[in-house]
Order: sequence, then structure tokens, then C-alpha cells
Amino acid sequence: MTTFVKPSVGTGAKTLPSAWYISPEVFAAERERVFGSSWLCIGREEAIEQTGDFFTTFVAGESLIVTRDAGGKVHAFYNVCRHRGSRMCEQPSGHFRGSIQCPYHAWTYGLDGALKVARNMAEVEGFNPAEYPLHEAAVACWEGFIFVNLDKREPFEQVFSPLIGRFARWELASLRTARSIRYELACNWKLLFLNYSECYHCPLVHPQLDKLSPSDSGHNDLSEGPFLGGYSQLRAHGMSLTMTGHSTRPPIGSVDGADLDRVYYYTIFPSLLLSLHPDYAMVHYARPLAADRTEVVCAWLFAPSTMEQPGFDPSDAVEFWDLTNRQDWHVNELTQRGVSSRAYTPGPYSNAEGLLSAFDRYYLGVMGARES
Ligand code: FES
Ligand SMILES: [Fe+2]
Repeated sequence: MTTFVKPSVGTGAKTLPSAWYISPEVFAAERERVFGSSWLCIGREEAIEQTGDFFTTFVAGESLIVTRDAGGKVHAFYNVCRHRGSRMCEQPSGHFRGSIQCPYHAWTYGLDGALKVARNMAEVEGFNPAEYPLHEAAVACWEGFIFVNLDKREPFEQVFSPLIGRFARWELASLRTARSIRYELACNWKLLFLNYSECYHCPLVHPQLDKLSPSDSGHNDLSEGPFLGGYSQLRAHGMSLTMTGHSTRPPIGSVDGADLDRVYYYTIFPSLLLSLHPDYAMVHYARPLAADRTEVVCAWLFAPSTMEQPGFDPSDAVEFWDLTNRQDWHVNELTQRGVSSRAYTPGPYSNAEGLLSAFDRYYLGVMGARES
């Protein structure tokens, strides 16, 4: 197993050396040490509301079938038949009528993963179907989000203890996705997390955002570990982050008081960005495709009672953040190009970039980087 050396930062924190953003070797190690052993958010429970609803997803190079059994339990099965290993399900989403059948020789599994039917196998001496359930990843549902972990060692409740109950007032589990947009970025996934964690860039890159929320109004309440973030202030009471700066929607959940004038931003290592507005929530689901390519799905969530109102239109929020997202993606891609240059050397973080050095510290710890 490769041992990576922790970069020496001298006085003050600096950005990471370029290999951490461009090297295929680092990317391969991340697949095991980060994505192969962390709790990863793969979507919302609302996508598989009924028994047998399913979607497929990729994590750490593995195809998973995510479905709900008759008891309401969510499973994430490896998309690998226990007979001769065929991938079983090719559709991105759909509905199983009570069972999952392999298209090759029709071995058939229950929605709980148990092997139910294996044609002609009763004649095979010593064959016991109970020994061949589908392999499955660990699954946890939190605030309506589905998380999976290919490594079953760390209980979700233990890792997520700083977040459990923390967002109760937004009642995130009750929200529904009104819109989502998929982006593909020509940059390393970590640049997305770093960019999200500072507003040093906001006055230049996001003039529209800066008009609604001062870039220096940030206050961090989680500043070390796998979850980082805090809030920024809206410029005036009654505002939200929309194209007009205002919203006619009521607050979500029981959001009240000072939270009506704030937007909270959190990075949830290594797969989710959570942005809580007074009247909606926005999430970014991030997934690395290569050292220099990242898929991001941005989704906008609202209260069902608001979505049921005649004339409900989320476009004011969606357009605002689609614009802001694209502004961010552009600087992330410029950074990827710059850090790939032979001229690049680590640069010093500003005082407004404390979360970035905290992210780097946590990440290097997960990667097992050693002091030189
Ligand atoms: S490989 Fe699936 S039934 Fe044969
Ligand atoms: Fe930004």
C-alpha cells in the first residue's frame, strides 16, 4: 500500500502540492481509503418511496442497486449475481415486482437480497441457497438522505454524531426535490469542497450573491473534522438567495428567529454539500470520475405543502444557484489547470480560508499521509 508523505507546510497553512489534485495514483488510493470506506450520500429516500422501487448508482467504482424491501428497509446490493457474477441491473431506476432477477440464467433474489430461485440447482450436491444472498453495502438513512458505506466498520451514528439532530428545525426529511441539475466539472473533487468552504472569492466571482449576502459575514460553527461549515448573513430581513433576493415562500420546517436571516453551508465529507436557506434547501451530491473530473448533481428541496400551492415555481432559487454554480465551476476548472502546471507550488491560505486547511488536515488523515 502506498504511503503518502504529508506536505510540510512551514509557517502557516498552504494549499496541497499538485500531485494531490492530478495524480492517478492518489486517485486510486482515494478509491480505497476515502470512497471505499466512508459514508457516502447517494440520494434521497423519496426516490424509492414504494417497496420494489430502485435506482442504481456507482460508488468507488462499484455499481449498487438501491431498493426498498417489503418491510420498508433500504438496501444497497452490489450489482453482482452470486451465480457467475453477471451485472444484473442496467437501468438507472425503475420498479422490481417483488424480486430481482439476473438476466443471464434467471437466478432470482428477494428484495431483502435472499436467493429465492436458482434454476436446476437443487440437483447440485451440497448447494444451499441460503449461502448465496446478494452482497450488500451498509446503509443509513438520515434526514431523508440515503448513505452507503462499502466498509462496514464504522457505525453511521458514531461518525455522524456531530450532525444528528443538528438540523432538526429545517425538517429536512419532510422536504421533496423539486429540481435537479447534473454538471460535469473538469477538476478534482477536492477543489469543489475547498471552493465551497470560503467566500474570499465571492465579491469577484459572485457579484449577484455578494449583493444578497456579504462575503465577510461568515461564521463557522463546525471547524474541524469530517463536517465543516457555518452560516452567512443575508443583507436584510425577508431575503433569500433567489434571482430577486426575495421569496414569497414560507420558511421550511420550524425555521424562525435569526435563522430567517441566514444561509447555512456545510461540507459533509466526502460526498455532500448542504446549503440551508430560510425557504428551501439545496444539496450538491459530488462524485469523482477521475483525478481531474467530477460529477456534481445539484438539487433544490422544498416543503411539500409549498410545492402543492398553485403556481409553485422554484425557478427563482434554481436560476440563482445555477448561475452561482457555473461561476464556481469556472474558477474550479481554472484552478485545476493552474495546479497542473510545473510552475505551481503550494500557496498560503488567507485568514478567510481556515476551513480549507481543516479540510486538508482531515483528508490527509483519512489518506494515512505520514510526516516526512
Ligand atoms: S450469472 Fe446470474 S444467473 Fe447466472
Ligand atoms: Fe463560490
